[in-house]
Amino acid sequence: MNSDLLIQLMHSYKVSFLLFYAVDIGIFNYLTNQIAADDLCKICSFHSVEKMQIMLNIFVRIGLLKKEQEWYCLKSEYKELLVSTSAHSMVHLLKLEKFLMENYNTYNKLVYAMENDSVDDFNNQHKHNMEYTYGQAMENGGRYAALQVSRIFRKLTMKEPRILDVGGGTGSYAIAIANVLKNAQIDIYERPEMESVCRDNIILNRMEESISYKSIDITKEEIPQKYDGILMSNLLHLFSREIVLQIMKKASNGLSKDGILVLHDFFLEDNHTEPLQALLFTIDWLLIGAKFNYSTNDMKLIGETYELELVDIKRYKELPTTSLVFVKRSE
Ligand SMILES: C[S@@+](CC[C@H](N)C(=O)[O-])C[C@H]1O[C@@H](n2cnc3c(N)ncnc32)[C@H](O)[C@@H]1O
Repeated sequence: MNSDLLIQLMHSYKVSFLLFYAVDIGIFNYLTNQIAADDLCKICSFHSVEKMQIMLNIFVRIGLLKKEQEWYCLKSEYKELLVSTSAHSMVHLLKLEKFLMENYNTYNKLVYAMENDSVDDFNNQHKHNMEYTYGQAMENGGRYAALQVSRIFRKLTMKEPRILDVGGGTGSYAIAIANVLKNAQIDIYERPEMESVCRDNIILNRMEESISYKSIDITKEEIPQKYDGILMSNLLHLFSREIVLQIMKKASNGLSKDGILVLHDFFLEDNHTEPLQALLFTIDWLLIGAKFNYSTNDMKLIGETYELELVDIKRYKELPTTSLVFVKRSE
């Protein structure tokens, strides 16, 4: 008999709260080098060394920190992820989760989602006033992925490829593609609330000539022209199966012959239980009623329905996401 796992699971939401709190008071920024709890208290103006120690010891036990005598330090693999200023920081994502945890009763949401079939418009309602944090979370989480995904578009050898990034977020993927394909003309279809974050990023990267933001809701509008390449990165997981099918059809109609569709998302392996990170995110997609749990083979079959042939699967060692490359075979 071993109750460890059950006890851990029972308490894990409280550990998450402690992690959100630690991010809030900024302790990880001072834990890149060894520091004692009392010094950390002084730097963070925290009143109780004892409470600080309890919190730090929990982070040691779950593997974020290492401890030597009275000194604490982030494990090297978490330094980049937990320091707020680093390029790969997950701090914004943690803040977003904390915001959701504070404002919504996730258990009630889960019960509702499990017992009803409606789709919750997560983007519209729940992240109101969190656009900046949401944008930063996408930007930091997406920077490395954008580099990887952009390389796929090298397949497009025409002189001036026309590319569409649906749900392009802050524009980081479009910017990465524009860096790879200097003559590409890229449109981003996005929701209006992302407009200023996205436009600012385009201007910051001096890409106004090659990237255009367009306020288009892909669930409501058709793709009005033909593109040589279409990217949908982390978009489909927001939607029910019915809408996923509609969007796939629109993408197929929006591609020129031999055009490519790249789906970059949390696809599962054929057993539907791996990879772990992708599977855990399935809970989020459940919460919004999206039930997004497709394996690469499931997507292959969906693609075939819309004359899209799956020609390549790219898994990334450092990422929980996968890219599926489809080619449009007919006119
Ligand atoms: C999870 S983010 C992904 C952003 C980026 N593509 C990436 O991979 O980091 C999903 C994006 O899709 C956008 N989006 C959601 N529903 C949409 C819709 N109906 N039409 C266009 N964009 C939408 C959201 O505003 C958000 O920026």
